[in-house]
Amino acid sequence: MDNIQILIIDYGSQYTLVIGRTLRELGVRSVILPPKKVDAWLKINTPKAAILSGSNWSVHNDGAPELPKSLDITGKKYFILGVCYGMQLLAYKLGGKVERPLSHREYGPAIVNTNTTHPLFKNIKEKTEVWASHGDTVTKLPKNFVSIATSGGIAAMSDKNNHVLGIQFHPEVTDTKEGKKILQNFLTLSDCKKDWNPMDLIHQIQNEVLDIVNKQKKDKQKVILGVSGGVDSTTLAAILAPVLKEKLICVAIDTGGLRAGELVELKTNTRSAKIKNLTIIDAETEFIKNIGTTIDGEEKRAKFRTEYKRIFEEQIKKHNAGFIVQGTLATDIIESGKAGESAMIKTHHNVGLSWEVDDLHPLRNLFKYEVRELARVMKLPKAVYERNPFPGPGLFLRVVGTPVTEENIQLVREADKSVRDILKKNNLEKEISQVIVALLGINSVGVKGDERVYGHSLAVRAVQTVDFMTAKGYYFSQSIIDEITSALTKHKDIVRVFFDMTPKPPATTEFE
Ligand code: XMP
Repeated sequence: MDNIQILIIDYGSQYTLVIGRTLRELGVRSVILPPKKVDAWLKINTPKAAILSGSNWSVHNDGAPELPKSLDITGKKYFILGVCYGMQLLAYKLGGKVERPLSHREYGPAIVNTNTTHPLFKNIKEKTEVWASHGDTVTKLPKNFVSIATSGGIAAMSDKNNHVLGIQFHPEVTDTKEGKKILQNFLTLSDCKKDWNPMDLIHQIQNEVLDIVNKQKKDKQKVILGVSGGVDSTTLAAILAPVLKEKLICVAIDTGGLRAGELVELKTNTRSAKIKNLTIIDAETEFIKNIGTTIDGEEKRAKFRTEYKRIFEEQIKKHNAGFIVQGTLATDIIESGKAGESAMIKTHHNVGLSWEVDDLHPLRNLFKYEVRELARVMKLPKAVYERNPFPGPGLFLRVVGTPVTEENIQLVREADKSVRDILKKNNLEKEISQVIVALLGINSVGVKGDERVYGHSLAVRAVQTVDFMTAKGYYFSQSIIDEITSALTKHKDIVRVFFDMTPKPPATTEFE
């Protein structure tokens, strides 16, 4: 797959994801990384441009996020665009001055006077309406920079070569009336070509895999694909089925950690992907036995991986396959710390396993919303492309701080079903990216029917996100909270329900 042309460095602004989405709407793919992960990424990638996002920080605060060490801000290697904090950081590091003048704080709509002879403001109105949110501002430009827009103070800057640019307002929000045009101008300036064409991507993936498979010896051309019924593996199966044909063998594992009705959904979804060869392995007993008393989240994931790998190795041998293919996404790789030297957050069950055969991850450069788009383009059913994600280790990760027993798994399975049914009934599914119901290893006292009960607690967590790299906690209304609490505490052992709205970061989506 082609290299990603735009690197977006996320300094924590709530609009960073919107920059990525706007670029995609303009036909260009991008990767969004926190500053700490940029050095590792730059070791193996050369973008055409880097965009530095906004932030709540002031460059003068202790602990303010820094420029990644290897990022070239001279504009020699790639074009640079700083947005809000991004512009202040660039100006500050390049020898300019950033201050907090009372006269130039903007929160909300503002009118900016632009220099329309500059390529960033080509075809933009001389007085354009923007949306700004900043206390700090650049009061003195770095050497060799000029102001290219004003709104009381400096609203945009550019170096003399038009390679390093900064804008104080937010081009990505719709309240900046000509923001999309400004971003398009930046794409044109940095010579970024349109590379977000779902059909082209599908063909690239097919050709890439077919090419590798055809190079293998004739008797070793079978490909094992792990499917879960989720959007990633179903989409990948649908992409590969028409080109690999009978060489594609799909394997699903019933780990015992599946949600209510999930096996049926899996069969329906794989059928819609036109898979001919599907094997379902019942390994419930083995998984529960192996994970059983493990409390530590990472240890649980490690044991899950071992069992998962063992089963797939059996299948590889059985079919004399030459390859294993998985629907691993960019996010899984980044979060598993495999994108370079980044800190490992969680061991994803399907990343970094070493197999005796070649393992292929054709979706490794894509984000969830991009895979959903591929599924839509291939006319897979809505149930596939709108499906909420669910982790490979399943309900095992939702029994937290207490042993994974069949009884505990069954309890979260029922609770998960109740919550999802309530969301469905209230038409809330669309608003929420994922809902998690977890059994917490906290026993506490309650009263039921005038009797003291010493029982379990459940946590309910819903998040909204575009790419799961960051997420906002979803706030249910009082009536939904009441409905969920009442439904969950009907279980004889549940006496308390906690609602968790912690954003990611610092929390992650799942509890483990
Ligand atoms: P976190 O908890 O890391 O989750 O914020 C981000 C998204 O990834 C899902 N997830 C997994 N998916 N295997 C998967 O296939 C895993 O090991 C795994 N761990 C987390 C999680 O449910 C969320 O959608």
